[in-house]
Amino acid sequence: MEKILIIGAAGQLGSELTKALVEQYGGEAVIATDINPQAANQFEYCRYEVLDVMDKRSLQQLVQDNQVKQIYHLAAVLSATGEKNPLFAWNLNMESLLYVLELARLEKLDKVYWPSSIAVFGPNTPKQNTPQYCVKEPNTIYGISKQAGERWCEYYFQKYGVDVRSLRYPGLIGYKSLPGGGTTDYAVDIYHKAIAGEHFKCFLKADTLLPMMYMPDAIKATLDLMHAPKENVKVRSSYNLAAVSFSPQEIYECIKAHYPDFTISFEPDFRQQIADSWPDTIDDGPARKDWGWQHAYDLNKMTADILKNLPEFLIHLK
Ligand code: SER
Repeated sequence: MEKILIIGAAGQLGSELTKALVEQYGGEAVIATDINPQAANQFEYCRYEVLDVMDKRSLQQLVQDNQVKQIYHLAAVLSATGEKNPLFAWNLNMESLLYVLELARLEKLDKVYWPSSIAVFGPNTPKQNTPQYCVKEPNTIYGISKQAGERWCEYYFQKYGVDVRSLRYPGLIGYKSLPGGGTTDYAVDIYHKAIAGEHFKCFLKADTLLPMMYMPDAIKATLDLMHAPKENVKVRSSYNLAAVSFSPQEIYECIKAHYPDFTISFEPDFRQQIADSWPDTIDDGPARKDWGWQHAYDLNKMTADILKNLPEFLIHLK
């Protein structure tokens, strides 16, 4: 049976995407991998292997031994963590992508998925309705690695016909995993604090607008793109993708409507500068036109869903 391999399956996106892939293709068809041995118990519904993506040989072996035909390569160091160790972040984000693209070429894989991010944009990018094609001068190492990665993806598609597909995710918000070192992660943490009855110290200013997306929308976008007929996938670097933009003040007010005693204070740190270099809103017209992208969740609908489900999820986790 042909297999789908997920690299970084225990991360924020990976844990939910793996489940969605198992629902679509069945547990037999999916191999989840991550560097974290402790993550095995998250994957009762499919095979789990510990894999360091920098271990080229093991990756190749896994692909060859299991008739792997698709790879979702999700392992990366995110924006805030990347600033603490830029060379490590560059090395991991770039080298691992090159291994995967090269493997896709040599082993003639059907498809590869690799996530990009709004972090490819920078301070000289138009901030409102940021278009698909515009100036990109990212100033985080994460953004630089995503921008370079996009160029490599397009290169492998044009030069070798590797069917690699990609989305520039906005900040992703899910309740099924903990924040993973991103600048947009305050919008995950804030729900945990509200539910725990704790005060929330926000590391961004109250009015910092950022593009965001609820995880079910991100999963749907990913699978829609991967299922789109090849000829409809016209952007081979990475598609702009949007759902909703909001500020810390706006998400706070939305949560406060459910938890009237919830309090917040704003203590911006180095992540403010990262957020300030990213767009306020994104124009994702090409994704909507080429493969019919539509989002379902706005801030209110997302908040209601998270506040309803997160308490129960945390109980199960214990
Ligand atoms: N959510 C990511 C981050 O904040 C951006 O893609 O690093």
